[in-house]
Amino acid sequence: MIRRLAPSVLNADLAQLADQVRLVEAAADWIHLDIMDGHFVPNLTFGPPVVAALRPYTDHYLDCHLMVEDPEALLPALAAGGANGVSMHVEPLEDPGRALDAAAGHGLDAGLAIKPGTPLDTVLPFLDHLDLVLAMTVEPGFGGQSFDDRVLPKIAAARRAIAGSGREVALQVDGGVNLTTVPRCLEAGADVFVVGTGIFHADDPVAAAKAFRAMLDGGAG
Ligand code: DX5
Ligand code: ZN
Repeated sequence: MIRRLAPSVLNADLAQLADQVRLVEAAADWIHLDIMDGHFVPNLTFGPPVVAALRPYTDHYLDCHLMVEDPEALLPALAAGGANGVSMHVEPLEDPGRALDAAAGHGLDAGLAIKPGTPLDTVLPFLDHLDLVLAMTVEPGFGGQSFDDRVLPKIAAARRAIAGSGREVALQVDGGVNLTTVPRCLEAGADVFVVGTGIFHADDPVAAAKAFRAMLDGGAG
């Protein structure tokens, strides 16, 4: 199983976005971009224009986590701006299947995200139509929160369901992922690791990103 590191720039120095991405590129597989609308979550970040602005500065896969009430509305501009994949929260979606098909129709890898308290059953019916499941391990909205261990059984159940489907579906964890919690996520079966403050609030973000890389390349699981 390929293990991917996806640094989240949410708590990086956003005034130097391209430079911050460059800092972690060597260790990273994906760059995780947290798009928030101030409605689905009580925080407001950036949208498709910033994704498009970043695109010329990196060849890395741009993984867009859409914490918005109406993610389908953003898909055309994200695709045009060079995003590679989207994860849409299942909670506000009227028709997750339609949203996934719309993302794929725009050439985007299509994912569904679930909050810590949202049952896995909400995404399982769509396993044949998605590329990624994002299990939030904190309430979405802000970086720097503590990892919620109660999500681990859900991650393990998602891994079993993915294995049973016979499809290649990535299983991403996001929220409070650090060098202490990565092993628990690996054991539960996650394979994409979003890390925000664990890298960008470290004294040395380059060294921190390398440490996560080494753990993912050498760790158990
Ligand atoms: C929070 C975001 C995360 C955030 C994670 O809602 O989805 O991607 O950047 O930050 P840490 O790693 O600090 O929990
Ligand atoms: Zn995120």
